[in-house]
Amino acid sequence: MKALFVASECAPFVKTGGLADVIGALPKSLSDLDCDVRVMLPGYPALKSVADAGETRLRIDNLFGGPARVISARAEGLNLLLLDAPHLFDRSGSIYLDDSGQDWHDNHLRFGALCQVAAKIAIEGIDGWKPDLVNAHDWQAGLVPAYLKQHDGPTPPCVLTIHNIAFQGVFDAGILGILGLSQGLYTSEGMEYYGKLSFLKAGIAFSDQITTVSPTYARELMTPEFGMGLEGIIQARRNDVTGILNGIDLDTWNPETDHTLPATYSRRSLKGKGICREEIERRFGLKHDPQAPIFCVVSRLTEQKGLDLLLQALPALVDRGARLVVLGSGERYLEDGFIGAAHRYAGSVGTIIGYDEPLSHLMQGGSDAILIPSRFEPCGLTQLYGLRYGTIPVVARTGGLADTVIDANAAAIAADCATGVQFAPITATSLAQAIDRTCTLFQQSGEWSKMMRRAMKHPVGWGQSAHSYLDLYGAAIDAHGA
Ligand code: ADP
Ligand code: GLC
Repeated sequence: MKALFVASECAPFVKTGGLADVIGALPKSLSDLDCDVRVMLPGYPALKSVADAGETRLRIDNLFGGPARVISARAEGLNLLLLDAPHLFDRSGSIYLDDSGQDWHDNHLRFGALCQVAAKIAIEGIDGWKPDLVNAHDWQAGLVPAYLKQHDGPTPPCVLTIHNIAFQGVFDAGILGILGLSQGLYTSEGMEYYGKLSFLKAGIAFSDQITTVSPTYARELMTPEFGMGLEGIIQARRNDVTGILNGIDLDTWNPETDHTLPATYSRRSLKGKGICREEIERRFGLKHDPQAPIFCVVSRLTEQKGLDLLLQALPALVDRGARLVVLGSGERYLEDGFIGAAHRYAGSVGTIIGYDEPLSHLMQGGSDAILIPSRFEPCGLTQLYGLRYGTIPVVARTGGLADTVIDANAAAIAADCATGVQFAPITATSLAQAIDRTCTLFQQSGEWSKMMRRAMKHPVGWGQSAHSYLDLYGAAIDAHGA
């Protein structure tokens, strides 16, 4: 089977969050199952050296205001199709935001162009390669099925994967004509959203199948609490909605071979984890103390991630004798809150504001537990990295967090299956109780090290989920042709 992925990020080239990790890893697992995946991405500056080593396969004289070409390249085990359109993508800074922190003024053109050219490749093929199916990811790829739908002739089916419904790509309806989309698609069952045009709604309305990144989030999306205004259309398509859990790249995230760590370790020998732990203490200015657990946070600092709750629960964490290290960036009040906490609780709390991939590995390698108090979490990957690194996830019971962590309640401990701590409701009080419970478990060192080893054994790769994607692709192709 041949599948075309369309997305706006891909690790290790360009990443703002978990979407990139998924796009960088899932195609490799699918190719192990004989699914030939090409990943179509914007030709950002970060991909320039990859593009320079590739071959031009398609030229477009004028793509929304400038010339463009599609370059085929192979890098990091992936077959890439890069949309080189300098007037849209050759910009320094964030891939989504301008220097003042606003969305790029022409994001509709940038990602509309990506979708239009992806649809053209899906229909006509490129360099003798024609996909059997398209998998479009998030709003940036949401118009692919709209372009396919308005094509007069056979097209391959399209699966939309929703990684986060909070981002919907909503623009003035006036862009419809500019993007070359027909008026007939702009209806309340289609891409119209309160008088505007929504890329994500287009994807939901016009795709053959919709997936999201965990079974619990698939159910949550149908409720007003989590659907963010799109619950109605998702309910309408409920028979075509499937939750498939994300996996992680087991080569990139492997404590036995991770050379970004000062020492590697395994389930059989955890000595290296102690060395990583000392490195964390040093980097974050904490006192050396094997008895006091280190909790970490590696996250975008946003409302979604519930880290304001952690600021509220912090006095309880420190009173309990535990420590906290934070790596993240995002909203100003959270950055300031954690910087302030590091001053107030110097020696117990350390904060590094920024984005640092190698340090994110050290956080997983050297911490005892990872805190993820998200208000909603479609899947979440850092708890999976935590499991793999024996860093016990302490998570809000929502979305993919609920699906991947087995709470250390009495029954789970007796059955030898606990891998972490879950809490609900998602409040500061219940987070503080979860932290307290984790500290108690940490003091029971025999139980704790059993839990660490169990966590490290928990399957977090793509194996099962890649099969699920493939089955779903097969069914979509059969239904589309029928
Ligand atoms: P989301 O995509 O909602 O941000 P995920 O848990 O799915 O959440 O993925 C987040 C990814 O981004 C993980 O790979 C995590 O390690 C990484 N990450 C988040 N913040 C940082 C940071 N400040 N530095 C390095 N990596 C980070
Ligand atoms: C989104 C979600 C996150 C998920 C990631 C990859 O960014 O917020 O929960 O893990 O996509 O699917």
